[in-house]
Amino acid sequence: MTTLTLPGLIDVHTHLRVPGGEHKEDFTTGTAAALAGGVTMVLGMPNTTPPIAMADVLAQTRARAAQEILCDVGLFAGASPEHTAELPALGEDAVALKIYLNDTFGTLRVEDVPTLRACFAIWPREKMIAMHAEKRSVAVGIGMAAAYRRPVHFCHISRREEIELIADAKMAGLPVSCEVTPHHLFLNRDDAERLGPLGDMRPILGTTDDVAALWEHINDTVDCVATDHAPHTIAEKQGEKYPPGVPGVETSLPLMLTAVADNRLTLERVIALMVDNPRRLFNLPAQADTRVEVDLTPTIIRAEDMHSKCGWTPFDGREVAGRVARVILRGEVVYEDGQVLAAPGFGQVI
Ligand code: NCD
Ligand code: ZN
Ligand code: ZN
Repeated sequence: MTTLTLPGLIDVHTHLRVPGGEHKEDFTTGTAAALAGGVTMVLGMPNTTPPIAMADVLAQTRARAAQEILCDVGLFAGASPEHTAELPALGEDAVALKIYLNDTFGTLRVEDVPTLRACFAIWPREKMIAMHAEKRSVAVGIGMAAAYRRPVHFCHISRREEIELIADAKMAGLPVSCEVTPHHLFLNRDDAERLGPLGDMRPILGTTDDVAALWEHINDTVDCVATDHAPHTIAEKQGEKYPPGVPGVETSLPLMLTAVADNRLTLERVIALMVDNPRRLFNLPAQADTRVEVDLTPTIIRAEDMHSKCGWTPFDGREVAGRVARVILRGEVVYEDGQVLAAPGFGQVI
């Protein structure tokens, strides 16, 4: 058995569904899934019910996280036109700001310029502004980064036109960064057809040319691999108006290690994409005495092995190059052979 030891991974894009979506996921199940994926730090998105767009919701959600999480968690604040007055207070305790420019799950949306200006003028300069921006909205985000001379991070970039635009902006010296998801790297339109609602998310799965473009840029333009872990229940996915989003936090490392085995990128690059760049871009604290041990035996991903409350994965049945055997966080064994050993509250709120 070949084993590999890696640093604890950081996933800067997860939906832990607290408050209001606890039937899909909660802080304990979401962070259990993270540990099962070798992820020891996650950032949680604010498109909850109610959204994390007001300081009192952020404070209550952080307090709940402190009791319930198994790995370390930072929470995003969400920008909304109704609550720009809350931005200074949110800026104190949120790890970063999220702006949704396009349609997706939840009600958070920013479509007007005054709200965008308020965000860029008020949000603390040392904290990241991340955007859900598709197609032309990526150009809006690049324009804001240029106008205010401050970093912008693009979530789940999925199309050739988007990654090429970001490459151009980087060439021009603008402070932009981006993440890609494993589902956009390993699935395409054919999979969307095969999977139906279980292969539907925003942005939707790309064409084979879009997927090729993401791989062409994996060693330069792409800064992070983040999962956009977006659990919804099977019942919701089987409904008439099913919500977009797929889980992913516990399958990302095995998929990326499969790409390493296939010589699509190096292990060093995987560590840059999943540990070093996320930490640097979001200014996240180091985790002492923390590591992940991987067993490099080919393994089949099975829905029934998942720890997420939603209990399914779009990668069910896929063979990958290895599995997470053991996770050590701050010197404690928190995951071993499929069992989560950390107690709720062991994780720290960032
Ligand atoms: C996400 C969700 O379910 O919260 N869904 C998705 O399709 N990606 C929202 C988002 O990340 O845009
Ligand atoms: Zn999004
Ligand atoms: Zn998301």
